[in-house]
Amino acid sequence: MNSPKIFAGSSNLLLAQKISDKSKIPLGKIDLGVFSDGEVDVWIQDDVNNCDVFILQSNSAPVNRHIIELALIADALTRSGAHRITAVIPYFGYSRKEKQSRKGEPISAKVIADLIVRSGVNKVVCLDLHADAIVGFFDVPVIYLSALEVLAGRLIKEKFKSPIVVAPDVGGVRRARNFASLLNAPLAVIEKHRHTHVRDSLEVLSMTGEVVGDCAVIIDDIISTGGTIIESAKALKQKGAKKVIVCATHGVFANNALEKIEKSEIDKVFVSDSINITKKNKKVEVVSVSELIADSLVGEL
Ligand code: R5P
Repeated sequence: MNSPKIFAGSSNLLLAQKISDKSKIPLGKIDLGVFSDGEVDVWIQDDVNNCDVFILQSNSAPVNRHIIELALIADALTRSGAHRITAVIPYFGYSRKEKQSRKGEPISAKVIADLIVRSGVNKVVCLDLHADAIVGFFDVPVIYLSALEVLAGRLIKEKFKSPIVVAPDVGGVRRARNFASLLNAPLAVIEKHRHTHVRDSLEVLSMTGEVVGDCAVIIDDIISTGGTIIESAKALKQKGAKKVIVCATHGVFANNALEKIEKSEIDKVFVSDSINITKKNKKVEVVSVSELIADSLVGEL
């Protein structure tokens, strides 16, 4: 068998390089581009015949381009004779559409999982999916990682006084309970309501758990428009929290989310580098999951 390689899609070259450095699995040569009509072009320039190969690609913005790129890389590697293709997808876009909320909607996460697997992928590595059930959408084995321990480890270093962990919606209670046990902290839950007829709009309905005088730590999987954490922070400060810290695995930061967070009542945000964050923001600190992913790739060889 030839030696393994990591092929990086264009979404997160920084993370790919870090994973390569830590795992000692070299990056493969690949040429990625876009034709003038918008079609994605992929060219594998290494000999991968009988190789174990990894594709590192987050389905972050531009989401559709990155998904197609991942599928085309997998197809190119299959046609080049790769022995086993593992798609490493630190952020799985479309994961929030994992069920039908109303008649007439697709289950987008299933469609994307099928597309990836049918392109020739034999195994998937992913991180903190919006819903754990998405693991079952892939008809191949999945290594399911979580950034919670990495985020908790970083938070512990801050030595916040009597933190209380907050789930910003009922769907995130299990994640928050796990995070609270890592921090040995109590748990509060916010009930959030989304208006299905207005995209990205929401309101905080109610809260269970005492937060007066404490440092509230919101834990979420994704920060997209920032609406969830900004509204939650407002409610938590009204309830008496002195500090509001946010931890999330995936910093999508759509549109002007970073500017809104900067002006909000949130004191600090910790996110992983599952998505490459190019804009600077004083309140946002990135914690790397490169070691976590590198260890899992080495374990696969
Ligand atoms: C929703 O269920 C997720 O867990 C996140 O809370 C949500 O995706 C965050 O989105 P936004 O930042 O747009 O409120």
